[in-house]
Amino acid sequence: MIRSHIVGCGAYLPGDPVSNEALAKRVDTSDEWIQQRTGILQRHIAADGELTSHLALKAAERAMAHAGVKASELDLIVLATATPDETFPATATRVQAELGMTRGAAFDVQAVCSGFVYGLSVADSMMKSGMAGTALVIGAETFSRILDWTDRTTCVLFGDGAGAVVLKVGQGKGDATDRGILANVLHSDGRHHDLLYVDGGPSSTQKTGFLRMQGKEVFKHAVTNLAAVVDESLGAAGLTSADVDWIVPHQANKRILDGTARKLGISPEKVVVTVDKHANTSAASIPLALNEAVQDGRVKPGQIVLMEAMGGGLTWGASVVRW
Ligand code: ACO
Repeated sequence: MIRSHIVGCGAYLPGDPVSNEALAKRVDTSDEWIQQRTGILQRHIAADGELTSHLALKAAERAMAHAGVKASELDLIVLATATPDETFPATATRVQAELGMTRGAAFDVQAVCSGFVYGLSVADSMMKSGMAGTALVIGAETFSRILDWTDRTTCVLFGDGAGAVVLKVGQGKGDATDRGILANVLHSDGRHHDLLYVDGGPSSTQKTGFLRMQGKEVFKHAVTNLAAVVDESLGAAGLTSADVDWIVPHQANKRILDGTARKLGISPEKVVVTVDKHANTSAASIPLALNEAVQDGRVKPGQIVLMEAMGGGLTWGASVVRW
């Protein structure tokens, strides 16, 4: 049995944190409202000229250093983003060039906040089918560029950042000691487009557009869909919620994290929370949170780590890993 293993993590947040108080000088909001409704204390915003590929490259270099993997060993880069540098080519190819990787393949996946789980799943499938032996999966975003900074209902919720993992193919044992990615489950339902979308694009308006969201509706779908996909992914791995050591969720809102854990009967201590420090960084948020829990030693070999996310589309999914 072939398994892909996460052998290194890295992350990058641009610039100094921007506090809720600083935002309150820009739009009609308050630290109290943002904290109470979302658990967010601060976010990072990329400087002018600092692009998604720059954040992605820094996270990728850190993940490769952590894994002890050189660019010449990589067969594949999958970069999850909804905020690419340009309409084309894929931002992943810029990262490939900057890393000095001249072989293999590099491409982007677009599933908004679920992008990292989608990217991990695509890379894992390619590795299982023998198309790649060593891969980088990156989630990187500059959401600050697609926010309507006059809309207080959305602009306070998001931030910029990047996270990355290195995957290596290995032999699984096919038993309860099996380490590596055990299961991935992906879903989408395009009927919910209007709940969360960007009102522009190359084929529609020829302008980038701004993020539009019906927050309350997204919230309801998030808790229901995330709890269901966690159960489904654990079932696919032959596990139950009692086996989970760590949930590393997409970091959208502390209330969504709490609501989902409650619905699953998983103790809040097992939920890795970083949304307070960087707000919702879309595809970057899972690898940012995973990196923190791995680097500070919370995640230990043999433990079950569950990653889950939902985002625009709607898209949602989960990945189960035995570390
Ligand atoms: N500051 C102050 N007041 C605000 C702000 C703000 N930034 N934004 C909205 N308000 C006001 C509203 O105008 C409203 O005022 P009113 O009652 O006078 O009309 C009041 O606060 C309540 O607004 P609601 O929208 O009802 O607030 P709610 O409790 O639903 O919280 C929130 C809003 C935080 C957006 C919530 O719905 C949410 O988190 N939804 C999930 C959205 C999300 O996380 N999306 C990310 C992408 S998808 C994903 O990652 C899962």
